[in-house]
Amino acid sequence: MNSKHSYSAADIQAWLVSNLAELIGVETDEIDIHEHLENYGLDSAQAMILVSKLEKMLGFQPSPLLLWHYPNIAALSQRLAEDLPEESAIQDTTTASVNTPIPTLDLSAEVVLDPTIRPDALPPVSITEPKHIFLTGGTGYLGAFIIRELLQHTNADIYCLVRAANPQEGKSKLEKNLQAYALWDDSYKPRIVPVVGDLALPLLGMGAEQFQILAANIDTIYHSGALLNYVFPYSALKAANVLGTQEVLRLASQIKLKPVHYVSSVAVFESPAYAGKVVKEQDDFNHWEGIFLGYSQTKWVAEKLVKLARDRGLPVTIHRPPLISGDSQTGICNTHDFINLMVKGCLQMGYFPDVEYMMDMSPVDYVSKAIVYLSMQPSSIGKAFNLQHPQPEPLSTLIKWVQSFGYPVKAIPYEQWQSELINNVSSVDNPLYTLRPFLLERWSDEQLTIPDLYLQARRPHISCQETLQALAGSSIVCPPISSEMFMTYTAYLIQTGFLNVA
Ligand SMILES: NC(=O)c1ccc[n+]([C@@H]2O[C@H](COP(=O)([O-])OP(=O)(O)OC[C@H]3O[C@@H](n4cnc5c(N)ncnc54)[C@H](OP(=O)(O)O)[C@@H]3O)[C@@H](O)[C@H]2O)c1
Repeated sequence: MNSKHSYSAADIQAWLVSNLAELIGVETDEIDIHEHLENYGLDSAQAMILVSKLEKMLGFQPSPLLLWHYPNIAALSQRLAEDLPEESAIQDTTTASVNTPIPTLDLSAEVVLDPTIRPDALPPVSITEPKHIFLTGGTGYLGAFIIRELLQHTNADIYCLVRAANPQEGKSKLEKNLQAYALWDDSYKPRIVPVVGDLALPLLGMGAEQFQILAANIDTIYHSGALLNYVFPYSALKAANVLGTQEVLRLASQIKLKPVHYVSSVAVFESPAYAGKVVKEQDDFNHWEGIFLGYSQTKWVAEKLVKLARDRGLPVTIHRPPLISGDSQTGICNTHDFINLMVKGCLQMGYFPDVEYMMDMSPVDYVSKAIVYLSMQPSSIGKAFNLQHPQPEPLSTLIKWVQSFGYPVKAIPYEQWQSELINNVSSVDNPLYTLRPFLLERWSDEQLTIPDLYLQARRPHISCQETLQALAGSSIVCPPISSEMFMTYTAYLIQTGFLNVA
């Protein structure tokens, strides 16, 4: 759209209503301008699309942080109208961000576990064969693989928290999710029980009575549910990721003690204080300064809450995956994830950035098998595990593989790659277009972008030695990141139409 124009709050509001409605496929009158944007279920990619289109309309790049600090359409439109340059013109998007002071957030002050959560008031438990397992995140990517593992390695029924209008809809959502990852078997049907609820609500969105019934019947909990969004700030993710974890800990500590197996993330070590240092599984992580993504901030606080509950007597195991890649056997993956969108975008652009970046992602089959196996070992109780890939490969190796598959791509210096992104990626046909605000936003005091912040030199060395030792008695091995595995991934992405043949 245009570059020289002034817009009122009402114009921006109308634009946001109509574009949001189009993006999520509803009528404009179904959009409530006072509703939290998060409640429309925008994933990162959809949020990026909205941000990118807004940038074009306004003629400057609103900070994604600004967008999500004003989390409903009414507040956001008002704030954007105030910020609009009088004669806005499309400029270099790296320098044209609105300089909005971001409120400083003290994450350590967020680590407050409701004092009424008192697992030590209950008798200790030793559960070797759970009959009733409660799982969150069963409609997600990792959750689907965890369900499969639990069904195969226990005789338990799996009670799955699911956001749905009713149990039937919940059941069908869970079934469709397993089918989408080729994990479904009709024999699973009677053992998957939907529990309608919401992590973001007190008592997981259930009535007090239903919560108590669940608390009395469940033997063990797997908590994999979280809102994964790389655009939303801490404030928008706190309810689901932090308070939701607190509700799970409450459930575990009522009526009878239930072990909680929590899916955290290596992001808990994202503070620059750990850059270049070796971090081990049982190391504490007290540094939070310099964690910029709201999502990573919530994972830091949530794991701290789990550790507080552990210190109050709750049996827990903590599992920290890195980025999770596709199934090493079938190549099946979550095509909306960041790695796939980046690879697809770089292939379309013809250039990868020549940066010191290690690919340390672990395949989803390894992560899910390791979580379920480790959670069942009595010696695991109280411990954390790093599911980091033991032999990461540099990005330059991936680029060589991609070239050997016949894709005409080149590695170019990072600044040149950024210029290509700004100047030559100009349509939503390339997924990098929608990722631009995320890739170009400057965050730290040093004004670094997210790719700068994730360069190898700024990251910790995440040790997984103890995890590998704990897995040594099993047949679970993390498959090497090899050209064969990348071939398997690429074949799946081509077969689904996500990537074109080289
Ligand atoms: N994927 C990765 O690369 C990665 C890396 C490190 C750690 N992790 C962690 O692994 C876990 C699983 O991630 P994933 O990749 O499987 O994510 P995902 O595919 O996005 O799944 C997230 C799950 O959480 C559920 N959820 C979100 N908000 C909810 C709410 N308010 N109430 C109830 N359920 C809610 C989702 O339900 P709906 O279907 O209703 O949205 C979905 O089942 C997360 O804890 C994540 O932090 C993931």
